[in-house]
Amino acid sequence: MGRQIAVFGTGYLGATHAACMAELGHDVLGVDVDEAKLAKLAAGELPFFEPGLPEVLQRNIEAGRLRFTTSYQEAADFADVHFIAVGTPQKHGELAADLRYVDAVVESLAPLLRRPSVIFGKSTVPAGTAARLSTRARELAPDDAFAELAWNPEFLREGYAVKDTLHPDRIVLGVDSTRKGNAEVVAREVYAALLEEEIPFLVTDLPTAELVKTSANAFLATKISFINAIAEICEATGADVSVLADAIGHDARIGRRFLNAGIGFGGGCLPKDIRAFIARAGELGASQAFSLLREVDSINMRRRNKMVELAREAAGGSLVGARVAVLGAAFKPDSDDVRDSPALNIAGQIQLQGAAVSVYDPEAMENARQLFPTLEYASDVPTACAGADVVMILTEWKQFTGLDPIELAKCVRQPTIIDGRNCLMPKAWRNAGWTYRGIGRP
Ligand code: UDX
Repeated sequence: MGRQIAVFGTGYLGATHAACMAELGHDVLGVDVDEAKLAKLAAGELPFFEPGLPEVLQRNIEAGRLRFTTSYQEAADFADVHFIAVGTPQKHGELAADLRYVDAVVESLAPLLRRPSVIFGKSTVPAGTAARLSTRARELAPDDAFAELAWNPEFLREGYAVKDTLHPDRIVLGVDSTRKGNAEVVAREVYAALLEEEIPFLVTDLPTAELVKTSANAFLATKISFINAIAEICEATGADVSVLADAIGHDARIGRRFLNAGIGFGGGCLPKDIRAFIARAGELGASQAFSLLREVDSINMRRRNKMVELAREAAGGSLVGARVAVLGAAFKPDSDDVRDSPALNIAGQIQLQGAAVSVYDPEAMENARQLFPTLEYASDVPTACAGADVVMILTEWKQFTGLDPIELAKCVRQPTIIDGRNCLMPKAWRNAGWTYRGIGRP
């Protein structure tokens, strides 16, 4: 039997979670303050690009299992299982996470609860947040027993959001170890279909659950910056980091995934999450351990500068008056997300140094234009590359990795390509007359 569930926040995480919970057979109400966004979702339209999610959304709206509202009262009346899935962005001018949206859900929801309910936090938060919110929810609820708070972090990747929600690698549930509660029983009901697939289910205390999420992201970021640091050494010695990654990746303890050297990580999660982790470690007096993560962050940012330098060299020592084509604006392929996108950041820096930059991305044009309105946007690859002195591949879309170097050479002024994701076959491009530069590759 399905449960009645409310999901607060209908951004990437919340919209995906709401639709997927309905797909599991639950009755779901998505709650947000943004009416325009809700109207779109209710009409079965996603405000972002995520393969496979529109179908799940539409199917469940039609089946009557998924609705949307701005009313917290309606949510509290309807559901006794609540998920917090609002954003925790980086604070302006600080490393720390901005928790105002998470706090606002608890502040608004808890006073409206009229029966025993479980609030599951999914948002990524600094360790200690869940315990604080647990106390606060009980204070605000009309009866102490109405508000139980647990933490159930989300590990979804953009581009695989449906799969990661319905078939995750693991389910982690942090419960308040100082009180007896119902959260584990409720979570087992909500995720019954997943547990049948024998997906590992780990029950922890609240801070462990919060830290599982932040450490997983910190580890992934470290892996990427590790290989980018090795790429710097490869550049200095003439070694090839791609071959090296294949070779070390065969060791099962290391693994090949997340060892692609390039312009580094971006997006709405890894950059802000490692920064929030550094900030929290500092507050807790454990800042020395986290000088490692500062280094991870600075190696990552250094790759962006390195790309600008490469472009300057390729343009003959100065970017003033050069035409640069930037292929890719999204922070990774199969996404229209440009939050902290290394591609756009590099495009912006190159333009600031005097080049005419023309950007093309298969999905992220609208978002890119909003964030960086001063860049020039082209309608397709040949238009972006017309008359270019330098072509840069900054997001490894299939459309770009499959480009024909002979064809593309016809539109440019000078056949120079910089492969910021090491996603092209250097030989094929060189044979077609291009000057090819990759990252950490001879
Ligand atoms: C990430 C985590 O993977 C996910 O588990 C978490 O819940 C949210 O954050 P996502 O932001 O969707 O997911 O992106 P991810 O696929 O992890 O890629 C992050 C960035 O790292 C991208 O900019 C990507 O281009 C870059 N990357 C990834 C590399 O530079 N090299 C790699 O080998 C892998």
